[in-house]
Amino acid sequence: MSLGERLRSAYFAFWLDLSERLGRVRGPRPEAPGSLEDPPLEAALAARIDALRRRFGVRFECSLGRETALQNYARLELLDRAAGALGTALPQGRDVHDVGCASFWYAPALHAAFRPRSLRGFEVEGYRRLQGGINRAERALGYAAQLPATEFVIADYATVRECAGLVTAFFPFVTRAPVLAWRLPLRVLAPEALFACVRANLAPDGELWMVNHGEGEAETAALIAVSAGLRCRGFYVEPDPLLARPEPAVVSRWSPGDVQVR
Ligand SMILES: C[S@@+](CC[C@H](N)C(=O)[O-])C[C@H]1O[C@@H](n2cnc3c(N)ncnc32)[C@H](O)[C@@H]1O
Repeated sequence: MSLGERLRSAYFAFWLDLSERLGRVRGPRPEAPGSLEDPPLEAALAARIDALRRRFGVRFECSLGRETALQNYARLELLDRAAGALGTALPQGRDVHDVGCASFWYAPALHAAFRPRSLRGFEVEGYRRLQGGINRAERALGYAAQLPATEFVIADYATVRECAGLVTAFFPFVTRAPVLAWRLPLRVLAPEALFACVRANLAPDGELWMVNHGEGEAETAALIAVSAGLRCRGFYVEPDPLLARPEPAVVSRWSPGDVQVR
């Protein structure tokens, strides 16, 4: 680790610790609903969104701002296309854990995709300040309050011991650079412990659906997942995302391997 990385990590650790000491939640702060009509969407994008609306019976913009609604359609389409390409159905009716959910802005897409019995989003940095004088937990509670059986939990997932039928992990940290880019200390980077916990929490017929930035990160994550006792059931590289991305999203599907590692 370079000196620069050490210094930045120490600086971010100071702010994370302070936010944990001083953080408080004043109640849910939902987003104001937006509109996808004004300005109108480009025709091809509008057609893809219409297809998702019909297929999943959703209209995200009724409860989310425009940008968040668009991003939810993008995430829903990614999961739907990944399932099709992997030759499986999206798991339905399970107890779902989402690992590292940030403000849990994509909880509506998870709900639409998986119709979970329960949905819990876990985030280690719950009190990050957001625009408008609110914090991440307040925003997350705002999203969760609009969905049935949905909770936001401030916790390091590596310490959570609860059974899940489905674990989702969108862009888990597996290398140093993204941790610092998210203004977090490097102590947060413990992918071996995180994946071991996912493995231990998964029901015997449970699944992990993971999404990584690009094939390089997906390969790094896959090596750690295999070491943790997870068995890969397939990869899908998104060729044509609904919204432009710097690197293709790589979705992978995992089930518990034969050997319980902990
Ligand atoms: C790259 S961000 C992805 C956020 C979100 N999943 C998304 O797709 O927008 C990774 C997130 O995971 C959180 N995180 C990292 N390690 C964690 C852990 N052990 N337990 C819970 N959250 C964690 C970080 O604070 C950050 O919000």
